[in-house]
Amino acid sequence: MKKFIGLFIFILSLVFMSGCTTEIVPPIEPPIVVEPTIAELVESKLDSLSLNEKVAQMIQAERGYISPEQVETYGIGSILSGGGSHPTSYLDTADDWYQMYFNYQQSALNSSSEIPIIYGIDAVHGNNNLYGATIFPHNIGLGAANDPDLMYEIGKATAEEMRVTGITWTFAPAVSVVSDISWGRTYEGLSENPIIHQNLVQSMILGLQDNGVSATTKHFVGDGGTAFGVDQGNVILDEQTIRDIHLLPYYEAIEAGVDTIMISYSSINDMKMHGNDYWIHDVLKEEMGFKGFIISDWNAIHQLPGDYSDQIVNSVNTGVDMLMEPSDWLSAYDTLSQAVLNQRISIERIDDAVSRILTVKYTRGLMDHPFDRLAPETNLYTQEHQDLAREAVRKSLVLLKNDGQALPLSNNESIYITGPAVDHVGYMCGGWTTYWQGNTASDIGVGISIKDALSNVVNAQSVSLATTWANADTVIVVLTETPYSEGVGDHDQLTLTTGLSHPDNAAALLIANQAQAAGKNVIGILISGRPLVLGSYLDDFDAFIAAWLPGSEGGSGIADVIFGDYDFTGKLSFTWPKDISQIGYTSTRSNYDESYVMFPFGYGLSYRS
Ligand code: GLC
Repeated sequence: MKKFIGLFIFILSLVFMSGCTTEIVPPIEPPIVVEPTIAELVESKLDSLSLNEKVAQMIQAERGYISPEQVETYGIGSILSGGGSHPTSYLDTADDWYQMYFNYQQSALNSSSEIPIIYGIDAVHGNNNLYGATIFPHNIGLGAANDPDLMYEIGKATAEEMRVTGITWTFAPAVSVVSDISWGRTYEGLSENPIIHQNLVQSMILGLQDNGVSATTKHFVGDGGTAFGVDQGNVILDEQTIRDIHLLPYYEAIEAGVDTIMISYSSINDMKMHGNDYWIHDVLKEEMGFKGFIISDWNAIHQLPGDYSDQIVNSVNTGVDMLMEPSDWLSAYDTLSQAVLNQRISIERIDDAVSRILTVKYTRGLMDHPFDRLAPETNLYTQEHQDLAREAVRKSLVLLKNDGQALPLSNNESIYITGPAVDHVGYMCGGWTTYWQGNTASDIGVGISIKDALSNVVNAQSVSLATTWANADTVIVVLTETPYSEGVGDHDQLTLTTGLSHPDNAAALLIANQAQAAGKNVIGILISGRPLVLGSYLDDFDAFIAAWLPGSEGGSGIADVIFGDYDFTGKLSFTWPKDISQIGYTSTRSNYDESYVMFPFGYGLSYRS
């Protein structure tokens, strides 16, 4: 009996315990997954790579010189399109571009490292290589607009119009502080004065990078400060002046978290920047703490002393992390590998460079989404982007003269328009459009000319277009430079009828003179990549507008303002010289005298002024 009772109690306790245990066992939580940090991902990936795979990440080839098969064989880390380097032709669609990108990317993933490429392109005022893309005003106009919110939106729109092709890296914005407008790249600069860069650079970078595209600030350091504005020339300045003027924008860029920085072809006090250990390693990476990666410019290391191996050793040991060697990419790959094996470059330097490159690829999502793209139908040349570009044009225009309230135009007058850029979108876009040196066609596939935009107003209101200037109330004369890029644009005879000014400007100026003598209301519009000496020609105009390089929506933006729908708000971000001798005289000088020049930095009229 006792056994029975004991068994009964035991079973009862079991039942009791089982009942209690179901109530006290906590619910089973799903395991907490701790995502690895980017640093951990980079370290892990780096540890998995062979020397050759690491070296391959440091090489950038140009699409015209490398096949997808070679990308797979060598595991090359980056490809670029140089200015105007289309898959097959300038008419290629976003789908054509994406197919090219996809083929290269698929090959990269099939390589032994399985690391996706990062594809770079000069989208410097919209995705300007792509047929049908919105072309925004070049930086000189955006400097006059001086609107950070606008810069962010342009960066965002540019990123969107890039990603319809899959490409996620632009070699922009240039943050050149331009000290001499003889320089052919003046228009790529926001201003002569870094106070403008301090207001705008971060916004452009964030607009791009917040929307999936790596930005590049360029060209480090002092590209716009060479003697006499010679492209790839020599900066002859003391260190403090370089820091105060040309280094400032890079603080902004680093604060914004810019992914990459491109080195300048130019020299500082006769030392080529691509071999300048002090400014690249000591200042940019150590003192300023730049954590992204540094890329060389197109074949720039070939300008360094010594043989090819010396050039690669010098630039990489200086701190260049990726070599833009468009056609010599295989030689660069072999030479860099050999330099490490010969211990001319340490494996620590290689690991630092590759870590920086992988960090950007992880941060910008390439490692996880190498084939991402946006739909062209809803991102390319949309009404939103056209309106944004039109707004940018309006805000970039600077009214230099407006005697007798010549502007705004009334809605019931007869207008005669003339000049080489009056019906020419290509000229309004300038360099880095369709092709490296710009597009000299009047119709580039998108946009609206000044003539067409005025015709739209005419049709909408009682404004008429006269067939001769003698029959008109108002004569509009549109003058222009012809497109140029880089050193091709270097010139010191910067007037309306010399330098790179269009040869037909002279005939247009003669009409202005005759119309003025006949008492007409004469309006001048200048399409140019920089201020040009106006001289006595300005006397023939009642009103004069600096329109810079306004891009595809230049016609609409200009019409909006000259008919008074919007007021002028643009202010000069460059000093306007009175004569050739004043070229190079800028507002960064301690003794800057506004009364000395034609129109000073910060000048701009409005309808209310
Ligand atoms: C050019 C320019 C640079 C550009 C690069 C790639 O020579 O100096 O601004 O990004 O090559 O096209």
